[in-house]
Amino acid sequence: MKAIAIDQYGGPEVLHLAELEDPKLGPDSVLIRIKAAGVNPVDYKIRYGYLDRAFPSYFPIILGWDVSGVIEAVGATVKEFKKGDEVFAYARKDFIGQGCYAELVSVPIRAVAKKPQTIDHIYSAGVPLAGLTAYQAVVETLNISKGQSILIHAAAGGVGSFAVQIAHALGAEVIGTASKQNHQYLQNLGANFCIDYNDTNIADELKKKFPQGIDAVFDLIGGQSLERSVELLSSSSKTNLVSVVDPKVKNLGGSYVFVRPNSEQLQTLANMIDTKDLKVEISQTFTLEEARSAHELLESGHVRGKLTLEIG
Ligand SMILES: NC(=O)c1ccc[n+]([C@@H]2O[C@H](COP(=O)([O-])OP(=O)(O)OC[C@H]3O[C@@H](n4cnc5c(N)ncnc54)[C@H](OP(=O)(O)O)[C@@H]3O)[C@@H](O)[C@H]2O)c1
Repeated sequence: MKAIAIDQYGGPEVLHLAELEDPKLGPDSVLIRIKAAGVNPVDYKIRYGYLDRAFPSYFPIILGWDVSGVIEAVGATVKEFKKGDEVFAYARKDFIGQGCYAELVSVPIRAVAKKPQTIDHIYSAGVPLAGLTAYQAVVETLNISKGQSILIHAAAGGVGSFAVQIAHALGAEVIGTASKQNHQYLQNLGANFCIDYNDTNIADELKKKFPQGIDAVFDLIGGQSLERSVELLSSSSKTNLVSVVDPKVKNLGGSYVFVRPNSEQLQTLANMIDTKDLKVEISQTFTLEEARSAHELLESGHVRGKLTLEIG
């Protein structure tokens, strides 16, 4: 099969087109003919070698953890899916090597769900990793409920765009940080209040509107932004702080989330998309061969929503 692989860690230039063996299919997995793959910051972090100590990694590495496509074959024990089903998946495994920038991928069914019916594969491939991260932070960890206030940093990116909508759907008051040009976009997703992090003091802005502090923070930036976030929380909410980028959050009393595959939660996201409670913003789609350009654009740090690769 055709794939975009890397033979060594490095910059975008190490991504290259390769002809590799088709993936083998285990008993609890499905083989997916890929129609589109999502591109996430973790892909370039893996490409640089930053996850080498966290995962066993096998070269040549095919990057990509998000997939949308059609089932080509099912493993011996699989009853939940059949050949021809349209599915999407957060295809992270316990090792790095057999990803989704390819024509085929084999994925354990614990990571697979039926694709949303009302969007095409290019949009569906933008959902799994970012959508599940937002769900596991906002719903599972912060347990946000109606009437609570939540500050979401980097709200216009892949994860933030889903987090804003999920928190809004739960009835929360949503505050998002983003550049000015993304404020209208965030309001359309359900944000009640937007702060331009470039020329505004976030704490001063928030104090005007929430003198007692806010109920929860979802951090997608880390470092000083995370440390300053503790002061923004009300006295009874000091531990309602989640980061997906900075494990130091645990020293501050909050929680670090590393997103896990979860087919039930993925199905919930698919249902929210089909009932129009969740929109998917894809700012650009590339061909498989253009994966390098997608990485360069994503690394600029200012993509709105998601990038995907159309395959086949
Ligand atoms: N632990 C996990 O399981 C997990 C899962 C998913 C993601 N992550 C990590 O979380 C981070 C975000 O992921 P993502 O997919 O959402 O990234 P992304 O889509 O690349 O985020 C881009 C967005 O970040 C915004 N942004 C950049 N600098 C900002 C700042 N200083 N303040 C506020 N917004 C800023 C940009 O908005 P403007 O253009 O308006 O600046 C842009 O819309 C990445 O580091 C990723 O690796 C971790």
